Amino acid sequence: MDLHELSKQIKTEDFQNSFKKVIPCKTRNILGEMSVVEIENRLNKIFADTINAREEIEWELYRIYYIAAWYKLYGSLNLPVELSIYEIATGDTVYVPQALDIYSGNRGKYVTLNLNKELSASFRSKTENMGADVRIIEDNGINVLNYYAENTFDVVAFQHAVNDIVQTIVADIEGIDTVRSNWWATEPQMLRAVFRNYQAGKLKDVAYEKFIDIIKVCRKSLKSGGYLIFNNCTFNANYAAGDYSMEFHSLYIDISREWIAEANLGLEELEIQGYQSKWWMILKKNF
Ligand SMILES: C[S@@+](CC[C@H](N)C(=O)[O-])C[C@H]1O[C@@H](n2cnc3c(N)ncnc32)[C@H](O)[C@@H]1O
Repeated sequence: MDLHELSKQIKTEDFQNSFKKVIPCKTRNILGEMSVVEIENRLNKIFADTINAREEIEWELYRIYYIAAWYKLYGSLNLPVELSIYEIATGDTVYVPQALDIYSGNRGKYVTLNLNKELSASFRSKTENMGADVRIIEDNGINVLNYYAENTFDVVAFQHAVNDIVQTIVADIEGIDTVRSNWWATEPQMLRAVFRNYQAGKLKDVAYEKFIDIIKVCRKSLKSGGYLIFNNCTFNANYAAGDYSMEFHSLYIDISREWIAEANLGLEELEIQGYQSKWWMILKKNF
């Protein structure tokens, strides 16, 4: 979503009313004191600066960016108010259901399949008071058709999830427990394992088939005319030299695009203004 556009919108009464339930009073007050230019400068900084150097208001704007980006997308794609969404690998990130809650209220339906136990518990507590019907199933996303029929959802959402899915595929091979462990404590080990495979030119050998199997199932779970929506923006983070690379981390959408095109699944990519193809990929199931 265009950051200049978002900065202007944040100052409008319409936005403030619609987004009231996801923006705490303290943040609303701070934003009320900031000009459009100040908000835009902060947003630009968020997308350029190191993730661990953010101030509280920047974390708030980061959250608002994602909720607004999903909300705007639902409208741009003319999705019905009775919208049904399947999100894979959500962890405890709630931007997609929050945007649905604003867009659809109690007419929206949302389910996520998520593996990590601690993050699932945190997701549950963050979403318990939503108007939209929100469910979490603690299982691998590839098993969604064990719970729902084919052609069920309008959208399958991959909110910054491709990296998590690939990391989990590699972790399984390496015997790293990603389900009952603390995700953040385990992540450096996962990142090193993924990067080692990438540097050795083996990432596709180890991850392609399993990744495409997931995409095939997600496609089946979609209604005809539905969308698979991916984002994987990268922010700078400090890793020990040689352990990981932010340049590699920035390639996740490009890699997914290449792998999905090679699998020839009959998905058409759409371009939506303000959603950069480096960070976002919107695929339509036409049949
Ligand atoms: C860091 S959290 C994800 C956060 C979120 N995607 C974001 O960045 O906004 C990673 C989560 O993805 C889950 N995960 C990874 N691969 C999965 C899969 N195939 N099915 C279900 N959950 C998966 C992990 O278990 C974990 O709960």
